Amino acid sequence: MNPFEFTTPASTEEACASLKEYGSTARIIAGGTDLLIELRRDSSKGPKVLVDISRIPALHQIRVSEGTLSIGPLVTHSELQFSGAVQRSASLLSAAAAAVGAPQIRNRGTIGGNIMNAATCADTVPPLIALGAVVVLKSSRGTRDVGLGDLFLKPYQTKAQPDEILTEIKFPGLPADAGAAFVKLGRRNALSISRLSVAAVIQRDSQNRIADARIVPGAAFPTWQRITPAEQMLVGEQPSDALFEAAGRKVSEEMIRCSGRRWSTEYKEPVLAVLVRRALMQCVSPAIQTGRSHDGSDGRSGAQATTVTFRSHHRYCTLSVIVNGRSRTATVPTNRTLLALLREDLGLTGTKCGCEIGECGACTVLLDGQPVNSCLVLAPQVHGRSVTTVEGLTREGKLHPLQLSFMENDAAHCGFCTPGMLMSAKALIDENPAPTETDIRTAISGNLCRCTGYKQIVQAIQTAGDGSASP
Ligand code: FES
Ligand code: FES
Repeated sequence: MNPFEFTTPASTEEACASLKEYGSTARIIAGGTDLLIELRRDSSKGPKVLVDISRIPALHQIRVSEGTLSIGPLVTHSELQFSGAVQRSASLLSAAAAAVGAPQIRNRGTIGGNIMNAATCADTVPPLIALGAVVVLKSSRGTRDVGLGDLFLKPYQTKAQPDEILTEIKFPGLPADAGAAFVKLGRRNALSISRLSVAAVIQRDSQNRIADARIVPGAAFPTWQRITPAEQMLVGEQPSDALFEAAGRKVSEEMIRCSGRRWSTEYKEPVLAVLVRRALMQCVSPAIQTGRSHDGSDGRSGAQATTVTFRSHHRYCTLSVIVNGRSRTATVPTNRTLLALLREDLGLTGTKCGCEIGECGACTVLLDGQPVNSCLVLAPQVHGRSVTTVEGLTREGKLHPLQLSFMENDAAHCGFCTPGMLMSAKALIDENPAPTETDIRTAISGNLCRCTGYKQIVQAIQTAGDGSASP
């Protein structure tokens, strides 16, 4: 990554002032899960300054007022996944958030980043368009509302001006009797980029006829849109497999009409039709389950709503961070990652460096108790926060029960994945001391192991969780 200046506004007004000052040479950073990969990949186009909005509490809220949900751009995918308010009023958005990456990515990646990155595979955008979302863009010139469907120019490009910041995403919650679904096709269950996805909503009248239908495919069109010809086929009809199959075929026809026939059409045409049919069937079936929920209207974590103020308009910064319970201070370049800070500046080499693109999980640490990929966190962003690494598991020379259990169950072979596995497992056990196998496999879905086949790792975590590991 090229060096850059780094600024941390404490309010949206300060953020707008920074964007006005630096114009197109500035980039906004929040979770950073997409941006850091981009900056590493193409350092020649690096920004002059990063504007870190992650410490603006007003942007990190979920509110419900008179049936309208208002979501701040800093709300993470994990928070969307587990928010009781989102599960109740926009279950398809919750389901889409749960389908993003793996726990480490969901704990850092934000809904605002998913929208403004404008990748056609963005999982939260089809549900938001189906929900009729409007986004609020703010600059020092004022604010404006833009329908989300009108925000995008083409893949990776929005109509937002360089001095504008996304401050809110708002939409009416779905009625309690509406059915909603999000289905995604990827190459694997976790850490998967959508090959195709479909968000759908169906509302039926008292005679079981479809009164309202919304269908929005993802990764199928250059930008997202409701497919009204298919929606119109459904309205006034009784739900049926044949009807939904026909609607699926219609969506595929529209895709071909819009994009033409390409090399991938032979595959996408039938598969998109099937996904639409499945999504519509789910809409008229029992509600989507997204796991545990956290009641209350705001997000799950208040971690980023910290009162710590950190300023650096230079290419170096001096930061303080609690690492394994001990206060540490370091002066580092602003383009240092948390992974490099730990390994190179603080000498904590237990955390491993693998892919550096958020896919292997070897670099997993706990940031304020949540597992994150330290290769995708900038060091300046952890100023004033608490980090736990694998070295922090040991207490007074005694191994943690998880470490003992990994030894007893032969869960470490080459050992390269083990620190990351242990940290993901620690986060799980701290929250859920008696996890099921499914809980464990979900918790470690962002950690790849090339040696063990995972069986012993799952067993080790289960054994440590039920307290049967040696003290
Ligand atoms: Fe960070 Fe692979 S996920 S090194
Ligand atoms: Fe070798 Fe997991 S033990 S990668």
